Amino acid sequence: MNTTLSNMPDHLWRPITQHSMLAGTQPRKMVKGEGVYLTDSDGNKFIDGLSGLWCVNVGYGRKELAEVAAKQMTDLAYLAPLMSSEPTVAFADKLQKMLGFEAHVYFSVSGSEANETAFKIARQYHLQNGKQGENRYKIISRYRAYHGNTLGAMAATGQAERKMGYEPGAVGFLHVLPPYPYRRHEKLTVEEHGQEMLHVLEETIIHEGAQTVAAMIMEPMITGGGVMVPPDCYVPGVRKLCDKYGILLIFDEVVSGFGRTGKMFGHQHWNTEADIYTFAKGLASGYMPIAATVAKSHIFEGFLGKPNELKHFRQINTFGGHTVATAVAMRNVQIVEEEDLTGNSDRMGRYFRKVMQEELGDHPLIGEIRGHGLLTGIETVSDRAAKTPLDDARLNLLLGTCAQNGVILGRNSNTIPGRCNVLLVAPPLIATQAHNDQIIGALKKGFAAALG
Ligand SMILES: Cc1ncc(COP(=O)(O)O)c(C=O)c1O
Repeated sequence: MNTTLSNMPDHLWRPITQHSMLAGTQPRKMVKGEGVYLTDSDGNKFIDGLSGLWCVNVGYGRKELAEVAAKQMTDLAYLAPLMSSEPTVAFADKLQKMLGFEAHVYFSVSGSEANETAFKIARQYHLQNGKQGENRYKIISRYRAYHGNTLGAMAATGQAERKMGYEPGAVGFLHVLPPYPYRRHEKLTVEEHGQEMLHVLEETIIHEGAQTVAAMIMEPMITGGGVMVPPDCYVPGVRKLCDKYGILLIFDEVVSGFGRTGKMFGHQHWNTEADIYTFAKGLASGYMPIAATVAKSHIFEGFLGKPNELKHFRQINTFGGHTVATAVAMRNVQIVEEEDLTGNSDRMGRYFRKVMQEELGDHPLIGEIRGHGLLTGIETVSDRAAKTPLDDARLNLLLGTCAQNGVILGRNSNTIPGRCNVLLVAPPLIATQAHNDQIIGALKKGFAAALG
């Protein structure tokens, strides 16, 4: 018998994990979540500095959400999405109101599905409403961005290590470089760099043939790909180019929605609107799986017609708009509003980065500290002048030391070959100054250990 197999701790196949590293070990089991804390089966308590996967925005242990779920399960546990339930209709209305423009909401279960849905809506929209003779099917996205794991969403994803071995994905997807101010050409200012990236995008559109491009998908600010804050000119500049060339703009707000970046929605930092939006993680703070694709009214209207014209959107998700998920999501977003978690995210994010800058800004292993709200990326380097990415061994030591000191953090692992060196800090939006101080304390120890 294969000894490695016999040494496996259990039968769970974990995501993004080399299981040979687990042979002979007993991976930690978490048994409780309360506020910003997770507790393991040995009673050790940790700050969850990643909010699960950037989703537990309201924090753990909200009994109120469990009560909403229990009531809805008792009243109407499930309804086929062709029919209308009270919580699902009410939550679609609520989302539309929060966004502040006329729109319709299509529910699914994961961020990947929400993006797949957006791509299909964009293609069908052009087919039915585009200029005669045009065949707009291409989707432009950006390197570094993550848009999901299904073949279409993976094709849109710009992270080589998440795709190697699984390609070809869906056809018709292409990538442009996003602005990366930290690694911009030294002769350019940050804004000039943003303009340069817009120029590259425009040239790409021209060279592809604008009449073949259906949509551009982007996170307003790249999150899991390394927290990349764009120059101010960039997001509005993309909108202008999309308008100029008749391309639909999709904002992937799967992470940046619902307060994470210190505004209710990420795009509000740049006062720029898209045609289609996708949401998932913070929608129900991970208490239920739910995702949404929101199309502005001009898109939705492009699907109106007679049944036999087949102009309607012909997709269904068995669990899309789940009664329990939408009921929980409604209460969740109300909590975000009532407790002003967006404001807290903004204030605490600023506090975190200010103190980090003051206390660790000159550290030899830190290249840049950047972010918005409670979403911070720390780009780690082994040589500040050359900006050489810090190696895996020291990054793992750093993160392991943080965990030993009671703080779970992560990094952009298995994304860009040789560039998985950005630490990610995104605690629940209820985090206080004291929690942030504890995270900074653990990071200090982590960086000291990595320096050796
Ligand atoms: C920006 C972004 N879009 C889409 C997704 C895919 O979401 P899911 O894992 O729910 O399919 C993710 C997941 O991390 C994400 O970060």
